[in-house]
Amino acid sequence: MNAQNGNLSFIVLGASGDLARRKVIPALFALYCQNLLPANFQVLGFARTKMTDEAFREMITAHLTCRYTPGEACGERMTEFLARCFYRSGRYDSRESFQALYGTLRELEGPQEACRIFYFAVPPAIFHDIAHALGGAGLVRPAGSQPWTRVVIEKPFGTDRASSDELSQQIKTVFDERQIFRIDHYLGKEVIQNLMALRFANLIFEPIWNRLYVDKVFISWAETIGIEGRAGYFDGIGVIRDVMQNHLLQMLALVAMEQPVSLTKYVRDEKVKVLRSILPVTIEDLVLGQYAAGGGQKGYREEPGVPADSITSTYAMAVLRVRSRRWSGVPFILSAGKALDRNMTEIRIQFKRTAGHVFLDKWPEGLPPNELVIRVQPDESIKFGIMNKVPGLGLNLEHTELNLRYASAFDGLIPEAYESLILDVIRGDPGLFICEDELEASWDVFTPVLHEIDEKRIEPEPYAFGSAGPAGIQKMLSKFPPRW
Ligand code: NDP
Ligand code: BG6
Repeated sequence: MNAQNGNLSFIVLGASGDLARRKVIPALFALYCQNLLPANFQVLGFARTKMTDEAFREMITAHLTCRYTPGEACGERMTEFLARCFYRSGRYDSRESFQALYGTLRELEGPQEACRIFYFAVPPAIFHDIAHALGGAGLVRPAGSQPWTRVVIEKPFGTDRASSDELSQQIKTVFDERQIFRIDHYLGKEVIQNLMALRFANLIFEPIWNRLYVDKVFISWAETIGIEGRAGYFDGIGVIRDVMQNHLLQMLALVAMEQPVSLTKYVRDEKVKVLRSILPVTIEDLVLGQYAAGGGQKGYREEPGVPADSITSTYAMAVLRVRSRRWSGVPFILSAGKALDRNMTEIRIQFKRTAGHVFLDKWPEGLPPNELVIRVQPDESIKFGIMNKVPGLGLNLEHTELNLRYASAFDGLIPEAYESLILDVIRGDPGLFICEDELEASWDVFTPVLHEIDEKRIEPEPYAFGSAGPAGIQKMLSKFPPRW
């Protein structure tokens, strides 16, 4: 049976939480508005919090948007969608709770058996309990059977290589690898999906995409908000495990990998190869920071639920080295921080400086390098920084940008990452999900240094809320002056 023309049950575990109400269920609504869900579908939320169906619908309504069905039609679509949303409460480690959930599902699904997607929108510490209880209650059909059962698991997958391996083993006692979709929502973002097209559908980048031309690569992620009440999840996890080991490393993999044989599963093979060739990060190549009070905002240690002596990093800069013929000697400088002065995710490929040029008398200190800037969010764009003569009499040069702004270049709406990825789960396309080998290789890059930080209790450097980050950033960057 194919879920797109059949019957689909989408079960959200942790349905009372932030991810479920802000991202997952709104993405389902967006797919519904685009007629991309099967004619028969039901959304069943499950969590410990007690809630009626009505209260659940009210909670999610606040986050549904009319992007795809503006005007009067939107209200109608919302009413139809909400009528298919249900909620049951129970315990994550209880077979009885899941047997009751099973009973509800059978009632909702009706006589036609449904394909089932279990979405784990819960903290990773309880993934195993849930998998076990689902298996025990007989909710999981074996891989290859029809109608199928699939499971979507959120990051972070474990907290280091060993815990990730253990989690994988535990989950595999219930689900087969073919049923597991490990989601990293950055892979569903439009500009990140475009990296393949940019690199492999254009002729001009390949000859310069290597150590001969590229000086360094910056992959930067910044948020203006702090942890926003997520201390229970974030403290002890920190920014490296929260976004760097997954979202930023995935971006690096797509920038640095070789061209895959085809667009199917072979992309994951190429990502694995490049991830395996990254040397483990050392403490000398790391800057750690933690936000302190600033601009009227609380410091991290004053956040509810955070211990006053917490050494959890809310900012990290790490220099990664890829040991390959293409990239040897090119630093990949990853940075990620919360409570910074801007919201921004971008990949900046900085090329080497032009040597022996004819403008030396005007620019004795050297011309600024060319840069390819891939802006993931906000204001998606691809910019290429070039030297240009300033129009007018006389010869003045200026570093300026060729700018492809998505907002002006394209008419269509940019889909939310979760829309694209949930659709792939329904279609059974695992290409944009993390395979086990990728997961292992990603943890190998950071596990030794994460252990060192924890064992030596390395203190992060404080930086003011809303600033550009800790002072150590400048010292680190000064180790990498532009090269010719
Ligand atoms: P929440 O803290 O909102 O947790 C989701 C739900 O899980 C809660 O509503 C709660 O439901 C239950 N829960 C929370 N803590 C515990 C606990 N210690 N034991 C048992 N149940 C608990 O987290 P998010 O929704 O933000 O994140 C869920 C997962 O998604 C995490 O793995 C996170 O890394 C990932 N993620 C989140 C993103 C986001 O934007 N929020 C983005 C990308 C990934 P109840 O008490 O009702 O059972
Ligand atoms: C999540 C992290 O994976 O990504 C959050 O857990 C972070 O800490 C979020 O805020 C950012 O996602 P986006 O799509 O808003 O950039």
